[in-house]
Amino acid sequence: MELKYRALEGMNDVLPEQSPLWQYVEARWREHCRQYGYGEIRTPILETAELFERSVGETSDIVSKEMYVFQRSEERYALKPEGTAPVVRAYLEHGLYGAGGVQKLYYITPFFRGERPQKGRYRQAHQFGAEIFGAASPLADAELLCMVMDFFLSLGLPADALELRLNTIGCPGCRPAYREAVRNFGREHFDRLCKNCQARLERNPLRILDCKECFEITAAAPPIDPYLCDACRTHFEGLQSLLKTLDVAYVRDHRLVRGLDYYTRTTFEVVAAQGLGAQNALCGGGRYDGLVEELGGPPTPALGVGIGVERTLLVLQALNAPLPAPPRRDAFVVAFGDAARPVALQIAQQLRRAAIATDLDLEGRSPKAQMRLANRSGARFAILLGESELAQNAATVKDLQTHEQYTVSQTELAAWIQTRL
Ligand code: HAM
Repeated sequence: MELKYRALEGMNDVLPEQSPLWQYVEARWREHCRQYGYGEIRTPILETAELFERSVGETSDIVSKEMYVFQRSEERYALKPEGTAPVVRAYLEHGLYGAGGVQKLYYITPFFRGERPQKGRYRQAHQFGAEIFGAASPLADAELLCMVMDFFLSLGLPADALELRLNTIGCPGCRPAYREAVRNFGREHFDRLCKNCQARLERNPLRILDCKECFEITAAAPPIDPYLCDACRTHFEGLQSLLKTLDVAYVRDHRLVRGLDYYTRTTFEVVAAQGLGAQNALCGGGRYDGLVEELGGPPTPALGVGIGVERTLLVLQALNAPLPAPPRRDAFVVAFGDAARPVALQIAQQLRRAAIATDLDLEGRSPKAQMRLANRSGARFAILLGESELAQNAATVKDLQTHEQYTVSQTELAAWIQTRL
């Protein structure tokens, strides 16, 4: 068969064979967030393009090169290229700040970026996200980092397979002087910078620091530390001291400036030592203390993280982390003769209502073919219905593991199976 339609490049189907793994990590994320006091938020896939231009930033690669934008009548829309800006929009729209105190919101969302697809980099991908609003203290940063590292550990990823990289990028008060220092550094080494960095040196000089092509040159770039204002320095020192107290290992990475414009102070990523190749960041996040106000809300300190779901799955598989058992099929009902087919469906329904995962043939196959299906299905029990069983309102139950057979009345079948699973 020649395929007429294929999924778009960089967009993947998740097939029944893989979906138990997705369900497993999603369930772990939900449970993990519950333990840390988060409530779930779900936001639409489409937002106005302007929301991301104002937050992620018009000069960022994500907005300027990768965002899927389209126009419908007067409005320009974007497929969400990340999860934070929509959550901030919803936080404001529904007045969640009115409750006062700290609000913790988590989500699982698809997002869209028109990047060149490669291993671990797709055009539709998924993120586990967590955002904290209203917490200025480094305690919140420390809690978020503990939560992220514990999530990976809870999935069975060994601590030595992960590296937490940490930095601060200051605030609008102290960052301009640092930005100028990096720009000057870039000008001094202009000829050696890649074309992309040469072009963005004037507009967005900090981005040269996380360019992989210019990695060797920017190793000598000035760190931010002497430029930090007292409040930013105190915050960063407070966070580092908390991480030491909590035994969270990290590496200071002076060049971790992140590719989204909304960050202030803390930035971080967790990279995987193996299993991902070039796209090795499992997650990224940080503080964005100015964003709520920038989008029209009251001054609200905030921070969060986005964890790449596909990359998490790739690392789990590459490191042979313990994965959940495939879903169980409990029973398969086999009809001997056409008269038994409706009863087979009735019995399948009865068992399913009793939470017994049950299947049966829907194509009118012969008993022999049905038995083959039953054996292949992995079900523990085959429920055989022939003329004599129908006459007695009973079923013959064959244990496909031990090959033993039992006669069980149809009314007791569900209870009988339940006690044996
Ligand atoms: P981000 O670093 O752009 O941050 O994305 C977070 C994570 O999503 C990355 O570390 C990576 O694992 C995954 N990811 C990014 N792009 C792709 C892609 N094309 N294909 C597959 N996976 C990808 C954010 O999006 C921020 N909203 C995170 C955040 C939340 N900051 C504060 N709160």
